[in-house]
Amino acid sequence: MSGAREPIGVIGTGYVGLVTAAGFAHLGSEVYCIGIDADKIARLQAGEIPIYEPGLAEMVEANRDRLHFSTQIDDALEHARLLFVAVGTPPTYSGDADLSAVRAVVEAIPASDRHALVMKSTVPAGTGASIKRVLAERGKTELAYVSCPEFLKEGSAVKDFLNPDRVVIGDEGDWAGDAVVELYAPLDAALVRTDIASAEMVKLASNAFLATKISFINEIANVCEETGADVIEVARGMGLDERIGHKFLQAGIGFGGSCFPKDVNALKQLAGNSGYHFQLLNAVIEVNELQKRRVIGKLQKHLGSLVGRTICLLGLAFKPNTDDMREASSLVLTARLQADGAKVRVYDPVAEHEARTLIPAVHFASDALDAADGADAVVLVTEWEEFVALDWAQVAGRMAGKLVLDGRNALDVGAIRAAGLTYEGIGRGTLTQVS
Ligand code: UDX
Repeated sequence: MSGAREPIGVIGTGYVGLVTAAGFAHLGSEVYCIGIDADKIARLQAGEIPIYEPGLAEMVEANRDRLHFSTQIDDALEHARLLFVAVGTPPTYSGDADLSAVRAVVEAIPASDRHALVMKSTVPAGTGASIKRVLAERGKTELAYVSCPEFLKEGSAVKDFLNPDRVVIGDEGDWAGDAVVELYAPLDAALVRTDIASAEMVKLASNAFLATKISFINEIANVCEETGADVIEVARGMGLDERIGHKFLQAGIGFGGSCFPKDVNALKQLAGNSGYHFQLLNAVIEVNELQKRRVIGKLQKHLGSLVGRTICLLGLAFKPNTDDMREASSLVLTARLQADGAKVRVYDPVAEHEARTLIPAVHFASDALDAADGADAVVLVTEWEEFVALDWAQVAGRMAGKLVLDGRNALDVGAIRAAGLTYEGIGRGTLTQVS
């Protein structure tokens, strides 16, 4: 790739920061990646990737000569005009996004007419305007500001970076917006260039809409259980309508992760703070909370009291192909099962390390079969491929009971039944009945 590509700074070394840094290095930019955790930066300098994300380690390795990791923001300021901000914006107790890390970056950037802040972190609509006000108060009016929200999904983040459905760039029609457009040009993606507030809202509204789609299909699944319909067939029929589409119509035990729960809450809170009661999002959140707990009711329906019962959870991460445990359904499930007196055995191919600090007093098994040992019920929590491919005769041989509760509607019902086990999914109509 030619050396003419714009060098960039990336502040933050989480999922978004690392993928953005590696992605732009791959496209030919020199990338100055800044983090505050000296240990993490040292590990990155040594070529170690602190998160599990398919393809990321390879992309970092292939572009190591263009990736410069440092704890000093000056390294980025010296070499790059565009400073991508990819720091965490976790939820606060009030449901608002915690912008302290974003504010720290704003304070650390000196007055300059040469630099621009490019916001990748998910921030409430209106943040760009308030940052511009703060910059003005600090005499940093010449610093440009661009909103460039990130839509990548964990587990396929590298692919998503290279093949985005769209690139959204909100700016004031200045050099910085032009430079960000230029950076993304090789990806040949649909471009939405707009104002800052609209770009910010695209991100929040997109995540809230997808979360709404999931809570909607989960409610349909719950109704299917009452009426005998199979939600998989229903979703198939609905999804063929181009206006609806197949994606994000997979019923299950609720959405988790670092974005949906946080962004839905943040949008609800943002609306509330400006005097608008966003009714729909209250329901989206409530349905999701209840959906995680319905698993307990299903177990009780088959097993009666859970006191002293052994329950095996397959998968802990909030979805497959990640070790991210943020807002994972497994956190609620393990706590509820333990509160009901059950013994819990768990296995996840990559999230165990993350999970150990979050989930106390469970047995971390060495593999799926070990987790199923002596279990009265096996619950699929995360649809890792290796669980979908399990030999159910072997699982049956290890279990004490017969129940398989498919929390993601991902398992082969025929194979499970052929192994003499009882199948129950989410919203599977007659398949949901005790057999
Ligand atoms: C999401 C957005 O998709 C992405 O655009 C944004 O940038 C960050 O948030 P991510 O959190 O990585 O990405 O995962 P995603 O694949 O969207 O799944 C989120 C949750 O929804 C998972 O817990 C998943 O299991 C659940 N889900 C997803 C369903 O329950 N049903 C579905 O049909 C799809």
